[in-house]
Amino acid sequence: MKGLILSGGTGSRLRPITHTGPKQLVPVANKPVIEYAVEDLKEAGITEIGVVLGHKGREEIQEHLGDGSKYGVDITYIIQGNPLGLAHAAGTARDFVGDDDFVMYLGDNILNQGISELVDSFETGDYGAGIALQRVDDPQAFGIADVDVDGNVTQLIEKPDDPPTDLALIGIYVFSPAIFNAIERLEPSWRGEVEITDAIQLLLNEGHNIDSHTVEGWWKDTGKPEDILHANRLVLQDFDASVDGTVEGGAEISGPVELAASATIEDGAVVRGPVSIDAEATIETGTYLGPYTSVGSSCRIAGVHIENTVVVGESEITCDEKIVDSLIGRATTIGGADELLPEGRRLVVGENSDLKF
Ligand code: DAU
Repeated sequence: MKGLILSGGTGSRLRPITHTGPKQLVPVANKPVIEYAVEDLKEAGITEIGVVLGHKGREEIQEHLGDGSKYGVDITYIIQGNPLGLAHAAGTARDFVGDDDFVMYLGDNILNQGISELVDSFETGDYGAGIALQRVDDPQAFGIADVDVDGNVTQLIEKPDDPPTDLALIGIYVFSPAIFNAIERLEPSWRGEVEITDAIQLLLNEGHNIDSHTVEGWWKDTGKPEDILHANRLVLQDFDASVDGTVEGGAEISGPVELAASATIEDGAVVRGPVSIDAEATIETGTYLGPYTSVGSSCRIAGVHIENTVVVGESEITCDEKIVDSLIGRATTIGGADELLPEGRRLVVGENSDLKF
């Protein structure tokens, strides 16, 4: 069994964060989203992994994951180019996959229970494909499966206007090489993409068995900023925290706090977990870091109140304000302007930013 992680796409719903980097490298609890996929594949015993890259962010992803040895896996990069659809992306990996079965993992998905059950279930039967399902509140936004009374899949539809069920296909699939033959015969959908959902439907029409598995633990597609914050909450909610950095006397910490070895919480700062603080970050006097906050490496946070927020890294936040429910991109400066005239907010804000005062 091989693994394939899809990391092309444009990340348009995560702009402006994705103007300067791929969405698969946006951190959740201080770990880039794509690393969760690598770790899940490794845990399921899959160490030969192909990573499909688009035009955008391909150098950054290759630089970050390298040859995979730091994760104990072997990574091969496959260039898709333009994001013509998930089935097109899978099709570019045909030579890499060869005659093996493979897991296809969408590089912006996170799930907490891993993929071993899905892989084991696929391997115990004679299946053309295995899909993972979960009930969702907004079925129009996903690929949807219809199932009969015995739980067998009868139909698959990509982002239907009138969904027959609320059972979404989550972004982890197991395939036999038969999928490549189906992909070759597909036409682009109404949204101009070659859909993996249509390829699985074709296998179903041609009599292949499709394994389906309902995922009980949480799962998140991190396509939008609020999804990153939600995933960050879900991961921090049951993470193993350890304080390896410096906590100065007079600092107050409570709840699960992960503090990297070279990070510091200064005297007079208050940190209420769950909170994750990465390497070389400094939480200075007068700061309050509230639950479900992740502070990336080399950040300086001083005198501000922050909760339920992801600060990506190398940022300096020194304003005397309350920041909540925010996603703050790399190397951002947020300072106070009180002493300056004329009085008011001073902003240098990139394209597609979203600010609320
Ligand atoms: O998250 C689950 C959903 O993922 C499924 O329910 C849908 O059936 C499936 O089509 C997919 O929908 P999305 O619209 O969320 O897919 P998205 O365009 O966000 O792409 C998912 C990942 O695949 C992302 O990491 C980018 C990558 N990708 C995407 C395309 C279109 C590629 O590598 N190449 C591509 O051509």
